Amino acid sequence: MAIQYSFPEGFLWGSGSSAFQVEGECRNHDFYDWALQGKIKDGTNPVDAVHFWKYFKKDIGLMKKMNHSTARIGLEWARIEPDKWACDDSVLDHYREILKEMKAQGISPMVTLHHFSNPMWLSSQGGWTSPKVVKYYIRFVKKAVRYLGDLVDVWITINEPSVYATAAYLFGEFPPGKKSVRKTFRVMKNMADAHVAAYHVIHEIYTQKLWGTPKVGIAKHLRTFDPYNTKNPLDHLSARLAKRYFNDYFLKRINRKSNTLDIFGLNYYSGDLVKFPLKLLGRQNLPKNKLGWDIYPEGLYRILDEYYFRYGCPVYITENGTCDDNDELRPSFILDHVYQLHRAMEHGVDIAGYYHWSTLDNFELVDGLMSRFGLVHVDHEHPERKRTLKTSGKMYADIAGSNGITEKIVEDYVPEWRP
Ligand code: BGC
Repeated sequence: MAIQYSFPEGFLWGSGSSAFQVEGECRNHDFYDWALQGKIKDGTNPVDAVHFWKYFKKDIGLMKKMNHSTARIGLEWARIEPDKWACDDSVLDHYREILKEMKAQGISPMVTLHHFSNPMWLSSQGGWTSPKVVKYYIRFVKKAVRYLGDLVDVWITINEPSVYATAAYLFGEFPPGKKSVRKTFRVMKNMADAHVAAYHVIHEIYTQKLWGTPKVGIAKHLRTFDPYNTKNPLDHLSARLAKRYFNDYFLKRINRKSNTLDIFGLNYYSGDLVKFPLKLLGRQNLPKNKLGWDIYPEGLYRILDEYYFRYGCPVYITENGTCDDNDELRPSFILDHVYQLHRAMEHGVDIAGYYHWSTLDNFELVDGLMSRFGLVHVDHEHPERKRTLKTSGKMYADIAGSNGITEKIVEDYVPEWRP
């Protein structure tokens, strides 16, 4: 049977990044400070990143070359508000330039307002545990949306609230490196309040400015959690608890009063087996990426099937990708996950677009610059951080250009691939 998985007309193909993981040259945020404290595994610092701030035209050119109809970028709060009482309009103007360039190339912008990094002035006041954080965040959101909203097609208020709260306040892996259950829940609660407030503020601004109806959502990391031993009721209980905490707590909180999701942004990477009391393990039979994460495409289908039918709003796959320094796993990783998307759509899930993570090899959160997720290779030693399209980038360009997986794409890139 011929291999042919076509997507509906107008399906969006793109890739994503966050501000501090690509921009470079910003010393006002907490990940810069964290790196100075020697907390990044390979010793690199996001101040180097890949200089998207400088080379954005080149990078948007590469998106175009990869037949992107959309791309996800982030705003750096610490650049826009370098200190508590300052707003730097020249930074907002620069973001306008980036967005205009995307539009000029026919690439529809999705913009994230908060993606892990925070201004140092906010961190020094308790960051996301502060009772004032929602007020500060909304002040920033208003400035950014009023200034840039006419150029943005989809707003993501907050990226991965449960990953952020867990990594920064429970596991101590992101700044400020705390290990407190109480603070973790306070951060999730504040982020939920921040999202709900931002959702309404963005809608109000669009109404006042006569910009039509905005699309606002979050980027929610969801994983499958299954019992390690299916015969052990305690493992079943642990898997349910992990799911309730990591996947569901935040979603339930934001939807308590009213629906504040125009779109559902899904970040999918992998799944876990859970052993009592709360030990997360991989599946022995699955291939792993460089960071030891299971490659589990079926999980994407399972998540879509469950959460789409629960929330009912159009899904954007806001992140999906893998850490693979030599681009050996990525081509089949993409085919496997795009196939699962297709399967979910056949089953009735409304998916508007797919953003591969990430566009370029960027600054990876805990591991640093040497752990590569990009469709585009970046030479971090080169003075201009030379970019080269990887094989996976070329294949992704062909998928986007043909609006799906074709027999020829499989033959050209991964002849042995079968769904
Ligand atoms: C984050 C990205 C990160 C990726 C890979 C996601 O959870 O949103 O910022 O680079 O995972 O670790």
